[in-house]
Amino acid sequence: MAKNILLFSVVALSLCCFAFAFEPSPLQDFCVADAAASGRVNGVACKNPMSVSADDFSFSGLHLPGNTSNPVGSRVTPVTVVQLPGLNTLGISLVRIDFAPMGINPPHTHPRATEILTVVEGSLEVGFITSNPDNKHITKVLKKGDVFVFPIGLVHFQRNVGKENTVAIAGLSSQNPGVITIANAVFGSKPDIASDILAKAFQVDKNIVDQLQAKF
Ligand SMILES: *[C@@H]1O[C@H](CO)[C@@H](O)[C@H](O)[C@H]1NC(C)=O
Repeated sequence: MAKNILLFSVVALSLCCFAFAFEPSPLQDFCVADAAASGRVNGVACKNPMSVSADDFSFSGLHLPGNTSNPVGSRVTPVTVVQLPGLNTLGISLVRIDFAPMGINPPHTHPRATEILTVVEGSLEVGFITSNPDNKHITKVLKKGDVFVFPIGLVHFQRNVGKENTVAIAGLSSQNPGVITIANAVFGSKPDIASDILAKAFQVDKNIVDQLQAKF
């Protein structure tokens, strides 16, 4: 009897520690996002399970290249809870990223997700920066079939270093990973951050900050 209790405690203890998840674990089979719901919850309210269909759990079009004709030369095609309502509460999503030659996905962070990326076509320089005070730059050039992970919250970027287009697919550990693009957040906020604050923060002349703010 005492042995059973001990065994039970060991099993319960190990379950506690392995059953850890960043987003709350679902308490039902699914909770398909109901875009029309007016209720505010942490996530999106669930559709009536009786009215869901296969379409709620699927997305089509990830075989299509994104349009990279823009100043950075890349395009992210997201498949998050916005595009695929069945992802709601499941803590996972997917993106396709297209890069023109020398195109970049500028430094950004996902506040709610770790990202695991693989190159399916071309080659890609990737990197992330560790937290203060080290700010160590961890970087590598990936070729087709290579996989890289960007830990949750860290600033990271990608650049196509090949002569052809590059295509990457990435999984993210949130239904709604969020993106903060550093340049846009800092220089393109609405309303602006006072330019003297940014001049001091970046240790440059205020004119340079004005120029940057005009661009974003
Ligand atoms: C790609 O985007 C550019 C710039 O917005 C636009 O001019 C062009 O028509 C787009 N190309 C396609 C195939 O949609």
